[in-house]
Amino acid sequence: MRLVIKDTSDDVSLWSALYVKARILEAKPDHRKYFVLGLPTGGTPKGMYLELVKMCKAGELSFKYVKTFNMDEYVGLDRDHPESYHSFMWENLFKHIDIHPDNVNILDGNAENLVEECNGFEKKIVEAGGIDLFIGGIGPDGHIAFNEPGSSLVSKTRVKTLNKETIVANSRFFGGRECDVPTQALTVGVQTILDAREVMILITGSHKALALHYAIEEGINHMWTVTALQQHPKAVFVCDEDATLELKVKTVKYFKDLMTLHDKSITPNLG
Ligand code: F6R
Repeated sequence: MRLVIKDTSDDVSLWSALYVKARILEAKPDHRKYFVLGLPTGGTPKGMYLELVKMCKAGELSFKYVKTFNMDEYVGLDRDHPESYHSFMWENLFKHIDIHPDNVNILDGNAENLVEECNGFEKKIVEAGGIDLFIGGIGPDGHIAFNEPGSSLVSKTRVKTLNKETIVANSRFFGGRECDVPTQALTVGVQTILDAREVMILITGSHKALALHYAIEEGINHMWTVTALQQHPKAVFVCDEDATLELKVKTVKYFKDLMTLHDKSITPNLG
């Protein structure tokens, strides 16, 4: 596991966007072999999406041969609702880049049969050749996607009932009205994320500091589902200084020293 510590959340956005660009360029995708990305919604990745849009508009990066799979979607929310994850993704990324709409995969929270929808999503990931790079954020309680505390660490895409904390946290997007937040979501499982060839998790802000501490310094625990990534052979956490507040000084020093030594060799195209 790697931990990349940047000064600010803007630095996290730029670094992660450069990382995605480096991975896509290295893979040299074409019509026979697409690059497959797993993507999150939320406040944390917005800055990264902005940077990716800039790179695409500047002609430095193309999404022509990229397929995407989003982590999750609310159940029962119209896909055109401004807070649906469909709307979020089109507004923040897809409508600004050269991706073909057929290559965008977002779970349908209004599907007649939600179980079939989830199973079909897993099947599509396999048909696409698996996910090359799964990008995620985490909640202050250490959840990844909608895998809330107590979720199975071998879970696959499924229907989840949201816990009270998540509903309260997400009510900020629904005018503060908890009653308007959907109570269920479709989400990839922890195992779906672990199955990706590489995982990159973005963490910013002091309110995520405890979750980062559990992710890096504590053992694997289903009450902090992000800790499952300790079992992944290629996981990188990218955080800002604020998010390191609960880490030991020696942990921070270790990863900072490591970055200086290895950054260029591990990610050769990264600026
Ligand atoms: C997003 C997702 C969530 C968020 C997490 C952090 O698709 O599944 O796990 O990544 O809740 O959200 P933000 O970035 O808004 O703090």
